[in-house]
Amino acid sequence: MISLAVFISGSGSNLQSIINKIEDGSIHAEIKVVVSNNPEAYGLKRAEQHNLHSVVLEHTRFADRQAYERELLRIVRDFKTDYVILAGFMRILSPYFIHEFQNRILNIHPALLPSFPGLHAQAQAADYGVKVAGCTVHFVDEKMDHGPILIQAALPVLPSEDGESLGKRILKWEHKIYPQAISWLAQNRVNLEGRKVIVKNAKTFFLGPADDPVLISPGLEEKFF
Ligand code: GAR
Repeated sequence: MISLAVFISGSGSNLQSIINKIEDGSIHAEIKVVVSNNPEAYGLKRAEQHNLHSVVLEHTRFADRQAYERELLRIVRDFKTDYVILAGFMRILSPYFIHEFQNRILNIHPALLPSFPGLHAQAQAADYGVKVAGCTVHFVDEKMDHGPILIQAALPVLPSEDGESLGKRILKWEHKIYPQAISWLAQNRVNLEGRKVIVKNAKTFFLGPADDPVLISPGLEEKFF
């Protein structure tokens, strides 16, 4: 059983997908604390509905980034969490925080990295006119949206799509690949070799049905579909 801190800023739908898979026994993990930098985040309500401990830490109340991150660190240390899961946390973490949790911070990004890092990735992809878009779960390193990639889902972009409709379809797959990635960590099946992430005994890929096409690599396991 691994213990998690989940950092959010908004709706928390990814948090919800992780909670659901912990509650149905698919992930052997415990969410020790949910941290939001936004007191209005709907994800805080989700945490409450599932009796999870939550903390609001507004960055605006701190003198500088380091003071803010010092408090973040204090919280995750107090709760003795193994991993920090960034689930729509819209703050960049500095090396000060990241060094303390080297290879123990995961992020989900709504694009096929290294394409379209940063904000509004779904709109960036739709406006660029790419034909394949998707989402990425990766370890966090010192550069934004850059660390070693654990799993990606790729889907075709429909001709009529804008950033919003594309974002909705991507989000659906975020909700599958993030719980899957965390379950691999919980099963101790993830090894890092430089930038390369090796998942022990994983299938090479998963292909979704023709009416809902997606390619996921490494392969999504059945209970996460
Ligand atoms: C998700 O689409 C996530 O990938 C994105 O924010 C959304 C949060 O939704 N994260 C980023 O863009 C990080 N660069 P949620 O609060 O419903 O999980």
